[in-house]
This record gives sequence, structure tokens and C-alpha cells, in this order.
Amino acid sequence: MKKHFAALIFAVLPAFAFASSDLGYPLDHVEVDVADQAAMQDGAKTFANYCMGCHGAKFQRYERVATDLGIPNQLMLDNLVFTGAKVGDLMKIGMQPQDAKVWFGAAPPDLTLVARVRGNDWLYTYLRTFYEDPTRPWGVNNKAFPNVGMPNVLAELQGRQVIGCKQVQVVEHGDKQYDTLTGTPITHEDCHQLTVLPKTGALTTEQFDEKIKNLVTFLAYSANPVKLQSERIGTYVLLFLAFFFVFAYLLKREYWKDVH
Ligand code: HEC
Repeated sequence: MKKHFAALIFAVLPAFAFASSDLGYPLDHVEVDVADQAAMQDGAKTFANYCMGCHGAKFQRYERVATDLGIPNQLMLDNLVFTGAKVGDLMKIGMQPQDAKVWFGAAPPDLTLVARVRGNDWLYTYLRTFYEDPTRPWGVNNKAFPNVGMPNVLAELQGRQVIGCKQVQVVEHGDKQYDTLTGTPITHEDCHQLTVLPKTGALTTEQFDEKIKNLVTFLAYSANPVKLQSERIGTYVLLFLAFFFVFAYLLKREYWKDVH
């Protein structure tokens, strides 16, 4: 009994660890469609250009990605492979984990399976919630991953995101702060709002969100490249079972006819 109890504790522990580390910031929901090749092509491009300097996807081959995303092999090599790799190679990177640990305090993990570990909503939120924080080594912090070791590599697209009060006018009264417009006290959340400074990024908020959605779509595909295939097979299996059921039923009726 004791052994079973210990096993149970070990089985549920990771669930708690995960939940508590991510509690606190509400995640934005994203609907991804891994059958959308245009979205995944855009996501793959962003991944190759902005992420593969530090993160690999070592369980994935360029060729498989090219096939699944409908990209001709040569186009893939010319535009998405910057490491001199061949099309049949795994999507590995040159950065050594021990060097990375010195530079960033933590090694950038391989991202092939990250969508399964973290979930699409977490990724979508994480990649959009870097904000300026001069107390951190790279000058940025993150809402979904407090004190993250990763620099904000997408700042040129998103623009400078800062944290502050959502009201423009704040008055202090005693030890409390009030919003001059509504007269209500300012809460902790009110003063931890993210805002992108206008005209500091190459994309608008909508365009940036779309870019990240495409990137998350690519990561979701990468974590489960056989999903499309298995869904198709699943449909055949269900059709076969439905078909088989009819014959099984007719056969059963035939056998039981004489018994009744
Ligand atoms: C300059 C190097 C660098 C680049 C470029 C970079 N990252 Fe990171 N990334 C890191 C480091 C370092 C960490 C580990 C942070 C930590 O543990 O504190 C990390 C962590 C992450 C994590 C969290 C993984 C986890 O589960 O803990 C995700 C997701 C991620 N990066 C996605 C991306 C994506 C997507 C891109 C491209 C848009 C990207 N990164 C570009 C350095 C980088």
C-alpha cells in the first residue's frame, strides 16, 4: 500500500510543479490549424530566421519539414537553412549547451517538442509578453516566464513593450493611488499592464499576433508531425468499424434467430 502511495505521489508531483510555476498570468488562447500550409511556411521562416541561432529542432529533418509544408527542397535549402546543412540533415544548431549556459545562464532547450510540453497557449502568450525591465541582464522580462534567460529576439517586429499603469492620470492620496478619471483606487494589476510603444516595431499588433500564431502552428506541427496522418487513418478506422458493425449485427441476428 505504502509503495502504491509513493508511486501516486510521484505520478502527480510533476502536475503540481507545472501548475504552480505557471500560475499567475492568464494565458491567451490561440487556435492553430496544422493543416494550414501557408501559416506553417511563415512559421518555419520565422523559426529559421529568429530562433535557430540558439534553439535546434533536432528530432526533425529539413526534408520532412519541406515535404509536409509543401516547400520544394531547393527552396528550403536556399531560404531556410543557414547552417550549411544538407536537406536530409536533422535541424541541429552549432551552439554548444555549455557555452550557452555561460552566456544566458540557462541553455536554450531544443524546441522540437516544446508545444507538447508547454502547450500552444503558453507559447503564444510567452512569445508576446516580453517587456522591458532594466534590472534583468538582457533588459527584458517575461510575463509567462518570470526572469527568463532569453533575450527578446522579436523586439524589432513587435516594438518596445513596456509595463506600467493603464490609466494616463494617476493621483496619489495618502498612501493610495487613484485614477483621476474614475476615482477608483489603482490595483496591482492596473499598474502591470503591457503596452507596445507606438511606431517602435516593424509590425502592427495584429500582424505580430498573426506571426506568432503561425510560429506556434509550426511548433505544434513539429511536436506532432504525424498528427495529420493519424487523423486520416483514424477516420478510416472509424469508417471501417461502422461498416463492420452492420455485418456483425446481421450475423448476430442470423445466429439468434433459431434460439428465440
Ligand atoms: C539569443 C539566443 C536565443 C534566441 C535567438 C531564441 N531563444 Fe528562446 N531561449 C533562449 C534561452 C537562453 C532560453 C532559456 C531561458 C531560461 O531557461 O531562463 C530560451 C527559452 C525558450 C523557451 C522556453 C522553453 C522552456 O520550455 O523552458 C521557448 C519556448 C523559446 N525559448 C522559444 C524561442 C523562439 C520561438 C525563438 C524564436 C522566435 C527563440 N526562442 C529564440 C535563447 C534564445
